[in-house]
Amino acid sequence: MQLAIVNGPNLNLLGVREPHIYGSQTFEDYLAQLRSKYPQVQIDYYQSNVEGELINYLHSCMGKCQGIILNAGAYTHTSIAIADAISSIAIPVVEVHISNVLAREEYRKTSVIATKCVGSISGLGMKGYELAVNYFVSNGSMA
Ligand code: DQA
Repeated sequence: MQLAIVNGPNLNLLGVREPHIYGSQTFEDYLAQLRSKYPQVQIDYYQSNVEGELINYLHSCMGKCQGIILNAGAYTHTSIAIADAISSIAIPVVEVHISNVLAREEYRKTSVIATKCVGSISGLGMKGYELAVNYFVSNGSMA
């Protein structure tokens, strides 16, 4: 199985950025742990701060990945273009947020991508990415 984790703007600064909200672990460190827990899964990783680059990467997953785990960062709340990209690629996407977006500012309570995703995980820290991997590994079921 091949999965892709895609992180959007400012998530390159995990470990440094607002650690009281996002924790003190870098994503690279977390990813190494995640990959070692799922040696049978090829977990590709892409991060960009640029909306169009995220869209190009989502397109590039076509024909390659069986699932995408997407933390679109602040684009979650604004980007119809990323929502359209999810609709266009016909690959199941799980939306992940490290923080509990529903417990924060009003503008974070709307996700314009949520209706295009198979599900959303929010507020469980970095663990959310692993839960999403687990979802895909268990054949896309909730088993
Ligand atoms: C985030 C939540 C977003 O509102 C924010 O803009 C981010 C990170 C999260 O993982 O909690 O950049 O997606």
